[in-house]
Amino acid sequence: MSLSRIYSGKVREIYAVDDDRLLMVTTDRISAFDVILAEPIPHKGRVLTAMTVHWLDALSDLAPSHLVSADPSQFPEGADEIEGVAGRGMLVRRAQMLPIECIVRGYLAGSGWKEYRSSGTLHGTALPAGMRQADRLPEAVFTPSTKATEGHDLNISFDDAVEMVGKETAFAARDLCVEAYRRAHDAAEAQGIIVADTKFELGFIDGRLSICDEVLTPDSSRFWPSDEWEPGTNPPSYDKQPVRDWLESSSWDKTPPPPRLPAEVVQATSERYVTAYERICGRRLSDWYG
Ligand SMILES: Nc1ncnc2c1ncn2[C@@H]1O[C@H](COP(=O)(O)OP(=O)(O)O)[C@@H](O)[C@H]1O
Ligand SMILES: [Mg+2]
Repeated sequence: MSLSRIYSGKVREIYAVDDDRLLMVTTDRISAFDVILAEPIPHKGRVLTAMTVHWLDALSDLAPSHLVSADPSQFPEGADEIEGVAGRGMLVRRAQMLPIECIVRGYLAGSGWKEYRSSGTLHGTALPAGMRQADRLPEAVFTPSTKATEGHDLNISFDDAVEMVGKETAFAARDLCVEAYRRAHDAAEAQGIIVADTKFELGFIDGRLSICDEVLTPDSSRFWPSDEWEPGTNPPSYDKQPVRDWLESSSWDKTPPPPRLPAEVVQATSERYVTAYERICGRRLSDWYG
């Protein structure tokens, strides 16, 4: 029997298995400047899946997770009809997802930098004066946002998060995510990669706050090569830079449809994803399923 697909996101396809479980499949699709490009990036889905599994394992003493298995031999009947499921599929428990995105920032970038530049604050809290774009923050900060069903997510204060999920859950989410970020930051830094910020999605499974969705991947995090990090500038993104640079040099106005990527750009990007996994996680992609 075929599994029924219940959701198709920008990057993931989700299939219902039963009342308790889902099969999440991460495709090779890539977006840049908020537009999904026509060309898939070889191995990207495997990289994101392998990284998520690596981190869920490394963080397993901090919190339970939604992962049941990424081993294709454990997938339910019907899964083998899904193209490329081996290496890109994860069998997970269904969770009651928190209505917030749990973002942790260790550096001043993106919307955090924008806020600081206009008001000297980060999520409403004052930061030291004179900080530059991409500067490291005095300490990692939990900066939640709402999960917008359309358009951009909205940054909210910690008090807003308390309103939305309750005090106990908000504090537990903050402590868990900040500790998980710190660990990942230190592990990646030793490999020459800075995790500037990352987004976790948490949910309740059997009444316990659990780590769900993707974890510490290039799509949910800002990775910078340490040797190209220069406060005062916007560091290149470790994984997507070849695509961004090429698109910037084309005459594209950043509205769909995007131009076709040349094969060399696709290839260079694929290699960056594979290297990101192999460096940060210290494993070979060829040892992963698929
Ligand atoms: N264990 C889980 N149970 C239920 N929903 C989950 C679980 N893990 C992740 N999700 C949700 O599944 C979706 C993942 O699909 P994705 O392609 O990343 O979509 P999006 O474009 O919304 O980020 C997200 O809405 C995420 O909140
Ligand atoms: Mg997502």
